[in-house]
Amino acid sequence: MLIALGVTGGIGAYKAVEVARGLQKRGHEVVAIMTASATKFVGPVTFEAITRRRVITDQFESGANSDIEHIALASSIDLLLVAPATANILGKFANGLADDFLSTLYTATRAPVLVAPAMNTNMFAHEAVRRNLDALAARGVRFVDPGEGYLACGWIGKGRLAEPDEIVAAAEAILRPTGTGPAPREAAASVLGGRRVIVTAGPTYEDVDPVRFIGNRSSGRMGFAIAAEAARRGADVTLIMGPTAVEPPAVRDVVKVRSAADMHDAVIGLADRADLVVMAAAVADYSPVERAAQKVHKAGETLTLVLRKTPDILGELGRRRLAAGRGPVLVGFAAETERVSEQAEAKRAHKHVDLIVANDVSRSDAGFEVDTNAVTIVGAHGAEVLPLMTKTRAAAEILDRVERLLAGSPAATRALRN
Ligand code: C5P
Repeated sequence: MLIALGVTGGIGAYKAVEVARGLQKRGHEVVAIMTASATKFVGPVTFEAITRRRVITDQFESGANSDIEHIALASSIDLLLVAPATANILGKFANGLADDFLSTLYTATRAPVLVAPAMNTNMFAHEAVRRNLDALAARGVRFVDPGEGYLACGWIGKGRLAEPDEIVAAAEAILRPTGTGPAPREAAASVLGGRRVIVTAGPTYEDVDPVRFIGNRSSGRMGFAIAAEAARRGADVTLIMGPTAVEPPAVRDVVKVRSAADMHDAVIGLADRADLVVMAAAVADYSPVERAAQKVHKAGETLTLVLRKTPDILGELGRRRLAAGRGPVLVGFAAETERVSEQAEAKRAHKHVDLIVANDVSRSDAGFEVDTNAVTIVGAHGAEVLPLMTKTRAAAEILDRVERLLAGSPAATRALRN
């Protein structure tokens, strides 16, 4: 999900770097907004390097449509998190002042707001600050309370910014109450509510010997975004993931696998009871015929590896469904570098699946290792080319179409679950 991380001018600003990292590890995208005083503590370049996005430091920066940027961002974020939040920004939020990007964003967004205050003990205890905190709490703003301890100003007491882990956990609790089940209203409203969903994500590693493998560049982010969005809509999600450094979202079950063969066994074992299978994983198409028991040593000028085709998991699910006349909704992915829609349609027909989500991996802003994607969704009624968007948004677009399919065939899928 997309999180706006507001950083204000406190000594704890350096901890916000860890907060950004922690959120990313859990598969979120972070856009950092720094107030002018925050930049005196930590350089924007630090956040830029971590978030791989432009850091917003000035509402009136020229050339970037900045006068409307806060409105665009306000409507696309899933959470506004401010860490550390100074007495000053709390005062602005509480009183509706909007004289910089962050305070303007607060007044413009409808997203949940989470604030981690940090300041001197006496400031934290001051009646004016307490009143602002109360006003914000009454408006639904949530807080990660400051800790007690040694403060940079030399005082010992309450006011130190909460630890990054705690802040990340508080953000997760707001974004994904799904680890413990969705909000009942949301679950009931979505066609995916209560449905069994399998999502695969990430690469597979095909071992050559005990130290080498054949892998690919998939980070798992697209599959993670789908798993998280399905869980948010109330689905009972099992995420089957290949090896990746990105943290998976907190869904009901996370099954970690390594090779295409492992992924095949994990998916096939669960697919019979599923309502939907989304194969977002970049499964290896070929795997070494033999895995050497010992490390292969350097010898001749060339080395030949003999590879064998891996089982096509999605193809197998498609064939089974065709034979049985019923089965889960099937969604596949296609990473293409040319004739994207055409290749995707061929794949859809060949694998007997409902939707193929194709992305042009020759673009640098879409596909592997980035937070954005430009997908073409190919279904029975043709291809829809969607613009560049965050993977979170793309996941929602994909699941909107899946919900239409599920709504159209409830009996077929329900029959399988009994
Ligand atoms: O056939 P191709 O690899 O181009 O198709 C990609 C789609 O098929 C993806 O959804 C991928 O997860 C799935 N796939 C699979 N089993 C394989 C290879 C790919 O299920 N062995």
